[in-house]
Amino acid sequence: MIETRTFNGTTLRKDFPILAQPTSRGKRLVYLDSAATSQKPQAVIDTLDRYYREYNANIHRGVYEIAARATDAYEHARATVATFLGVHSRDVVFTRNATEAINLVAYSWGNRNIGSGDVVLISELEHHSNLVPWLRLCERKGATLRYIPVDANGRLLLDDLDERLRGVKLVAVTHVSNTLGTINPVEEIIRRAHAVGAFVLIDGAQAVPHLAVNIAELDADFYAFSGHKMLGPTGIGALIATHAILEEMDPFLYGGDMIGTVGYHSVSFNDVPYKFEAGTASIADAIGLGTAIDYLTALGMDAVAAHERDLSAYALTRLAELEPRGLAIYGPRDPATMCGAISFNFADVHAHDLASILDTQGICIRAGHHCTMPLMEKMGWSATARASFYVYNDHDDIDALIDGLKTAATIFKV
Ligand code: ALA
Repeated sequence: MIETRTFNGTTLRKDFPILAQPTSRGKRLVYLDSAATSQKPQAVIDTLDRYYREYNANIHRGVYEIAARATDAYEHARATVATFLGVHSRDVVFTRNATEAINLVAYSWGNRNIGSGDVVLISELEHHSNLVPWLRLCERKGATLRYIPVDANGRLLLDDLDERLRGVKLVAVTHVSNTLGTINPVEEIIRRAHAVGAFVLIDGAQAVPHLAVNIAELDADFYAFSGHKMLGPTGIGALIATHAILEEMDPFLYGGDMIGTVGYHSVSFNDVPYKFEAGTASIADAIGLGTAIDYLTALGMDAVAAHERDLSAYALTRLAELEPRGLAIYGPRDPATMCGAISFNFADVHAHDLASILDTQGICIRAGHHCTMPLMEKMGWSATARASFYVYNDHDDIDALIDGLKTAATIFKV
């Protein structure tokens, strides 16, 4: 049983050693790029350290004590992921990240189930990782890639979804936009897609870190996420999928640990989920992800979401002060239907120049296309600046961003 903690961004900062380090210019580190990757609490760093110091061994193989301990910790992490997301452990396939999870589905499920004349429906908001695998699959198979359009505020236009769903075999949409922070109504999309017999994959990379997600209740056929955006290490993520679908799918990669028996001319495969985890896994990272989930569970995901709504509301209010000077805010502008990220541009200052000026103040934001080039082109933005928030941010961070933007305005004579 994990004890719950009440928190605010200021009190949590001390759990993250990197945030205590001043930048090389002696500034307080203001980290506003958690949509790219999150910082790691001491507890996660300790878990990695303990694994390598005390029980580094391969899993599912050795009979000796530290190998058994490593196997137990890895499988415990799988159970922690399962509980956190409301699913069964056997339906959690560890991958390197959400990208790998989506590619796994595109190859294993897609190669067998998508054929000439079929339709895959995605949205105009997608990250390249939930666009390129489907683009290439459709090219390989002679299938059609169709899009759910997005409006000027970054919201999916669902009025004619039933029309767009005609003939669709798979719908693949992001739960939360990494560029604009839009929370998509995935429950409705899944329900309407299932009503016409389509399968649904949800890219949860920007949702699982920020919202309480129950995949069984959502009823998604496939759900992908990354550990590094939710306080966990890089190199670990997962695909969650309906058991019967995983049973039918071919392995994505072949090698050790995923086999049942092998002869010189024959092979049989291990059970789900192991048949999808070829080779030595990211053992320490999976165990570290378990610790990250324990940390988030202690905070409570509803409290995490409420904290981020507060940060979004405060950031929108403060950014709006600069609108008369030419700051343009993109996306939904409604803290109830967005999370994690706000994109903007400031007059005619290039987003990269803005990010560089902010960097001199110790403020980290991302600038560019955010791996959503088609969305940027549709919106007519060559690049945007993006500030993204997490549990360790507070109002002081947002005030620092606004002060940094004012400095940039002075430098660029905005
Ligand atoms: N997908 C990550 C981002 O949005 C890298 O920045």
